[in-house]
Amino acid sequence: MKGIILHGGHGTRLRPLTHTGPKQLLPIANKPMSEYCVEAIKDCGITEIAIIIGGIGSKKVKEYYGDGSKFNLKISYIEQDEPKGIAHAINLCKDFVENEKFLVFLGDNIIQKSISDISKKFENDDDDALVLLCEVPNPERFGIADVKDNKIIKIMEKPKNPPTNLAVTGIYFLTTKIFDIFTRLKPSWRNELEITDALQMMLEENCIVNFEMITDYWKDTGTPNDILHANGEVLKNMQPYFHGVKNENVELVGNTMIGMNSKIHSTSKILGPCIIGKNCVIGKNCVLGPNVSLGDNSKLTNCSIQNSIIMENCTIDSNIKIKDSILASNSSITLDNNNNEKVLLLGEGTKISL
Ligand code: TTP
Repeated sequence: MKGIILHGGHGTRLRPLTHTGPKQLLPIANKPMSEYCVEAIKDCGITEIAIIIGGIGSKKVKEYYGDGSKFNLKISYIEQDEPKGIAHAINLCKDFVENEKFLVFLGDNIIQKSISDISKKFENDDDDALVLLCEVPNPERFGIADVKDNKIIKIMEKPKNPPTNLAVTGIYFLTTKIFDIFTRLKPSWRNELEITDALQMMLEENCIVNFEMITDYWKDTGTPNDILHANGEVLKNMQPYFHGVKNENVELVGNTMIGMNSKIHSTSKILGPCIIGKNCVIGKNCVLGPNVSLGDNSKLTNCSIQNSIIMENCTIDSNIKIKDSILASNSSITLDNNNNEKVLLLGEGTKISL
């Protein structure tokens, strides 16, 4: 089997974070979110992956994943000239796939459990496609599957009156049958070639579209809140470690992951789950966590941060309480005499001095 990761798209809901790079490289627990897809695909025994890239972030994606050798994989890149839809992106992979079955991952979808058993089952069965479904509280936001007697009878995109709460996740096991369907697929009202329409056509043409359920965790990280939610979930499941500079008096509570050479002042407190990258300096009077990821080489003093992602090379030196926020790399906040809580969503290179 081969693997495909979709790394293009507009990322409009994550602006300004996506002005300088693709959303799929935004970090969750200090690792690009698409790396979790790479790991999940690799875990299925797949060794060849094509990454669909497009637009502003393409160079960064190639730089990060290279030829795949650092992941023990063979990674190649396929350019999508414009984000014309998920089906359009997959269709560009026809030559890459050859005659094999393949696993497609949307690069912004996060799961926590292995899908290797499902992958094996798909390899051995005669299904034309297999989708992963997950129950969601807001089905009108997703592609939805109507299921009767344990069979999918219909797949529809963002229905106004969803017949079920079963979202079609962005993880698809496919066969080359889909390429034949694509030749007849028409753009949707939003002028995209929709994978949900293609899967519905498969059903109408009596192809076998099977499903499995994701019963623990799945997140499509389209918005800042989705990213923060996934960040908290991934942190919760990480194994704690301390690779920093030892300071006997530092208070570390719960699941904490402290990177190489990072220093924490004895007046500061880390409340897990929380990850601190390499070479960070947590100066006086900081409270970090829960649910905080701090990127490499960041420096904090006199601040309290909760449920937030602070990327690498950030500086915060102020009396500030930050929560539910995402700060892109190289941001800096300095502030005097102000104890108000702030909610921030800052693009790369932003500087605030209040
Ligand atoms: P979406 O989240 O549906 O779209 P988007 O990334 O353009 O974001 P927004 O709606 O905020 O503008 O895309 C799902 C995934 O598929 C995501 O990982 C991006 C990827 N994608 C492509 O690679 N090519 C495409 O043409 C489209 C539409 C999406």
